[in-house]
Amino acid sequence: MTASKAEVGAGVADVALDGQTALVTGATAGIGRETALALSRLGARVFIHGRDRDRGEAVLNELPGDGTFIPADFATQAGVTRLAEDVRAQLEGGTIDILVHNAGGWFTDGQLTGDRIEYTFAVNHLASFRLTYELFEALAPTARIVIVSSEAHRQGSLDFTGLRSVSNYRSWNAYSRSKLANVLFARELADRLDAAGESITANALHPGVIPGSGFGRHALAPLRGLMSAFGSIAAKLPVPGVDSVVEGAETSVYLAASPAVEEVSGKYFKDCAIETPAPQARDDATADRLWQISEELCEIEWPLGVDA
Ligand SMILES: NC(=O)c1ccc[n+]([C@@H]2O[C@H](COP(=O)([O-])OP(=O)(O)OC[C@H]3O[C@@H](n4cnc5c(N)ncnc54)[C@H](OP(=O)(O)O)[C@@H]3O)[C@@H](O)[C@H]2O)c1
Repeated sequence: MTASKAEVGAGVADVALDGQTALVTGATAGIGRETALALSRLGARVFIHGRDRDRGEAVLNELPGDGTFIPADFATQAGVTRLAEDVRAQLEGGTIDILVHNAGGWFTDGQLTGDRIEYTFAVNHLASFRLTYELFEALAPTARIVIVSSEAHRQGSLDFTGLRSVSNYRSWNAYSRSKLANVLFARELADRLDAAGESITANALHPGVIPGSGFGRHALAPLRGLMSAFGSIAAKLPVPGVDSVVEGAETSVYLAASPAVEEVSGKYFKDCAIETPAPQARDDATADRLWQISEELCEIEWPLGVDA
């Protein structure tokens, strides 16, 4: 029997997040929307982020508690910076307790962003890196950073060449590379936070296989139709290995709220439990290199923990 609320499925329905503030990126649809609703039901004030104003306002209206919708397109870094500025302004000196990096997708068209960076890498990874950097001073001392990755990271090879090019673009390679970057970023961020003496945690996760979200909407038409049809069937009939959108939010909500993972950091989760990620996601040198490349592409210096 599937729980109809993500916080129930995650076993945290009795956790009170009153007084806490959460930011969920990509909360206008799919897994992010369900995550935002669950955190609101648990008592958190929730910042909803996405691009689509109508969908953002609709989610806001569904929240049982306080919330704010802030639109921003991650296709440029200026968009990420604007989101951080708007969040800081709304916080009025307050802090963020839960930061869920969920926005992203599988983009079958190869394109460069306005900053001339491969789009999938920019939206799925670099935006999380930059947003964390920009909001760092606004994070609560025991904030939890939750990064939505995917089992697709296992197919990812971190070939750092070609991040400014889309010649020979293969969308699944680009997607799995970006999801590998998510796991490596969580690991490196956790290490650096620890070295800096911070109690903030960072973890990555696989949400499940959720054809009922909007995941396939940026795919080419035949594939998009197929995923949408599969999603409709899966919403009515249990399909082995396939999860509902509510189930897709469970591990994010668990990492955001469960006392059991209060001090757990740098791990990869699946089904609300620690899972061993792919060997390439456990490589310290690669994680450090990704940090440096992310700094270069963002044109920032963030020596977090290194000189501590
Ligand atoms: N569905 C799955 O089976 C699955 C499996 C593994 C991992 N994931 C991961 O789960 C996360 C959520 O995916 P989902 O399945 O819930 O997809 P979804 O329903 O399409 O939701 C994606 C969210 O990301 C936002 N977004 C997309 N591109 C953006 C951009 N350029 N700038 C700002 N926001 C943007 C969307 O905003 P707008 O709607 O406002 O445009 C939307 O709120 C993704 O990181 C995905 O990689 C999904």
